[in-house]
Amino acid sequence: MPHAPMDSIDDVQARLAEQDYVCGRALATVVFLALALDRPLFLEGEAGTGKTEIAKALAATLGRRLIRLQCYEGLDAHSAVYEWNFAAQMVAIRTAEATQSAPPDLFSDDFLIARPLLEAMRPQPGGPPVLLIDEIDRTDAPFEAFLLEALSDHQVTIPETGTVKAPEPPIVILTSNRTREVHDALKRRCLYHWVDYPDHAREMEILAARAPEAAERLSREVVAFVQRLRGEDLFKRPGVAETIDWAKCLLALDVIDLSPEVIADTLGALLKYQDDIQRLQGSEAKRILDEVRAEIG
Ligand SMILES: Nc1ncnc2c1ncn2[C@@H]1O[C@H](COP(=O)(O)OP(=O)(O)OP(=O)(O)O)[C@@H](O)[C@H]1O
Ligand SMILES: [Mg+2]
Repeated sequence: MPHAPMDSIDDVQARLAEQDYVCGRALATVVFLALALDRPLFLEGEAGTGKTEIAKALAATLGRRLIRLQCYEGLDAHSAVYEWNFAAQMVAIRTAEATQSAPPDLFSDDFLIARPLLEAMRPQPGGPPVLLIDEIDRTDAPFEAFLLEALSDHQVTIPETGTVKAPEPPIVILTSNRTREVHDALKRRCLYHWVDYPDHAREMEILAARAPEAAERLSREVVAFVQRLRGEDLFKRPGVAETIDWAKCLLALDVIDLSPEVIADTLGALLKYQDDIQRLQGSEAKRILDEVRAEIG
């Protein structure tokens, strides 16, 4: 086994739990397999469901460096790999001119700024890093094609200096919010998992891990309310991140029990679109709260 840093699926769950990451069996299985088979892990899902966080938790528990490539529209292969330090090159030229010494080699490692993909191919203390390629759906097809090649060969090329190959392949996690479909060729190389919203029990576990100060009763109300809210016709449904934020806001306000007034005052922690907030103000919040009360007693 190339990495085999985890012994079993249970081990994955236990070690991520130590990092306050609550990992369901299905996700733990695919993480275990990705590590054991040395395959990139492709995590797709709604916003705020723990896709980015799992890469952080994994790096932390393995004692590996986390290298993050945050994708954005217009990101090109070049800027994901390296950049030349123009300012330093200019200084070196001027210094050489002033001292009448030999011209510097401008395209050497001295002037190279490594971007995440190059960094991930270099040896790292503690072993191969966790390379998080976050929100790949924001890039375009040419970038995906480039990435596919880089990930297959575990190497990147800098035209001026040559190819850098990873001594051991990095642990790769790709995430997508599915604002568009990622190409099959890239997906095929990866193990895939859809990260869904957690069910009530798991979201309670997450809240207990991330907002342990919250009392059991308030947590149950918060989770039940958010779970119901996700079933409403909203422009943007709240993720786990919002559940945690909301619980923390309620704690800061010393709220013991939800009420329609408290909900109205704190909706901004849960919903980020005015249309959604407006929908929930007034009788809607009360209706959902009544349903929650009926459910949890
Ligand atoms: N399973 C989980 N266990 C513990 N905390 C979690 C879990 N899922 C989500 N969280 C919490 O929710 C927050 C948001 O998660 P994260 O940023 O990973 O979401 P994401 O899926 O990457 O969202 P986006 O698509 O918006 O980037 C994390 O900081 C973490 O506190
Ligand atoms: Mg994310």
